[in-house]
Amino acid sequence: TLRAVVRGVGHYLPSRVVENAEFEATLDTSDEWIRSRSGIERRHFATDDDTTSSMATAAAQAALDEAGLSAEDIDAIVLATSTADLTFPSAATMVQAKLGMTHGFAYDVQAVCAGFVYALANANALIASGQAKRVIVIGAETFSKIMDWTDRSTCVLFGDGAGALVLEAQDNAGTARDPGILATDLNSDGRHRDLLYVDGGVSTGTSGYLRMQGNQVFRHAVEKLAATAETAMERAGVTADDVDWVVPHQANIRIIQGTAKKMGISMDKVVVTVQDHGNTSAASIPLAMSVGRKSGQIKDGDLLVTEAIGGGLAWGSVVLRW
Ligand code: ACO
Repeated sequence: TLRAVVRGVGHYLPSRVVENAEFEATLDTSDEWIRSRSGIERRHFATDDDTTSSMATAAAQAALDEAGLSAEDIDAIVLATSTADLTFPSAATMVQAKLGMTHGFAYDVQAVCAGFVYALANANALIASGQAKRVIVIGAETFSKIMDWTDRSTCVLFGDGAGALVLEAQDNAGTARDPGILATDLNSDGRHRDLLYVDGGVSTGTSGYLRMQGNQVFRHAVEKLAATAETAMERAGVTADDVDWVVPHQANIRIIQGTAKKMGISMDKVVVTVQDHGNTSAASIPLAMSVGRKSGQIKDGDLLVTEAIGGGLAWGSVVLRW
């Protein structure tokens, strides 16, 4: 069986760190409110030197370095983002150029906070079909550019950054014990558009800001996340007892805890970075994977379950063995 196995992981965070307390100067909010409602303590915001493609390139280079590979060895780049530098070309082709890669192909995937899960499933299909041998999968976002800084219910929740994985085709026995992506599950339901969206875009002739009915999104999150994770785990032929790490989308610690509980997995098996990064949308899962790998939590052979939900609504899960 052709499996997409992880060869390397890396991330990039902009140098500007903003603590919750900084918002107290301009908004009717508090460190205590933000911390207790979301689990967020600080986040990174892009500086004038950072764009989605520059951060994505740095994360991709870090993942290539860890894999001991160069851009020459890569066949495809799949980049999950809702905040590309330009309307077109894709941020992925800009990363391709920045890496000095003149062969292969690159494209963006847009599924908001579920973007990385979608991109992973996409890259997995490229590898399983024989279209590509090695794929860089990136999540990169500059949500600071779509914040309404007068809206305390959203602007304190998001952050910027990028994370990347290098996947490589491996012909292995294809059991749940073998490394690689074991199963994927993707879902969306466009009826929920009004719960989370940007109120502008190219075809409407406006720029727009992120709008969210946070408590409504919350209502959908735990149930849909636990259900998609369970579907993916069933397809993979694994149970909650087999899971070494849940690497969830990092939007809110209460959603992360609620989902883990519903999955029957204790919080000491969950990689949590929301306190330091805030919600970085499509970047949050590869960022958490990279931090979890560097901290020594995620080890070779570990079974990981990722799950994410965001605007659309779009949600999904990927089960993989590192
Ligand atoms: N500081 C102080 N008070 C605030 C703030 C703030 N920053 N923001 C909102 N409040 C107030 C509200 O105005 C409200 O006041 P009221 O009761 O007087 O009307 C009160 O706090 C409670 O507001 P809720 O929205 O009900 O608070 P909740 O406990 O639901 O927490 C939160 C809000 C953190 C947004 C939560 O609902 C959440 O995390 N939702 C999910 C977000 C998410 O997962 N998004 C999906 C991924 S993102 C993507 O796809 C881009």
